Amino acid sequence: MAYDLDQFIADTRAALKRDPGPAGREEVRARLERLLANEDFVARTCGEDAPTGLKVLYEDKELGFQILAHLNDKARKSPPHDHGASWAIYGQATKYTDMIEWERVGGDDKHAELKETARYRLSPGQAGMYQDGKIHSIAYPDRARFIRVTGTNLDNIQRVRFDLQTGEVHQMTPQQAT
Ligand SMILES: [Fe+2]
Repeated sequence: MAYDLDQFIADTRAALKRDPGPAGREEVRARLERLLANEDFVARTCGEDAPTGLKVLYEDKELGFQILAHLNDKARKSPPHDHGASWAIYGQATKYTDMIEWERVGGDDKHAELKETARYRLSPGQAGMYQDGKIHSIAYPDRARFIRVTGTNLDNIQRVRFDLQTGEVHQMTPQQAT
């Protein structure tokens, strides 16, 4: 039997109950790669026939984490942003996502100076881990699809994005960016 969404949910619950910190999350990241190796799951959830948009596949009422399918239509390049007090895991399903990780090296509440610390591509089957407060920006081509697991519903927490030209720090509105 291929590793499916129900098993991934059960394993994620078990891992986060055992250890909600970085070690438990790393286990979730590794399991997400296993789920993405399930071709039926990817075809059914993220295939060309699946309607575009954002789909909540699962929300855990007890632990608060969410599993989201991002079925993108058009290419997009996001500004650098964080996920507030939550962690996030990005697992590539189709096409690719180019990731840049950033660190704040100066500024204040309204302005920030960012330094690039890592740049890499997530290809299908690969998942990246972004711990609480981590800043990243993403870029993907038309029709790229990914599964994202977040520690909580990001619509309910404060998050910021950064304007690279001006250095301005902006509060993010719900579902504004990923
Ligand atoms: Fe993000």
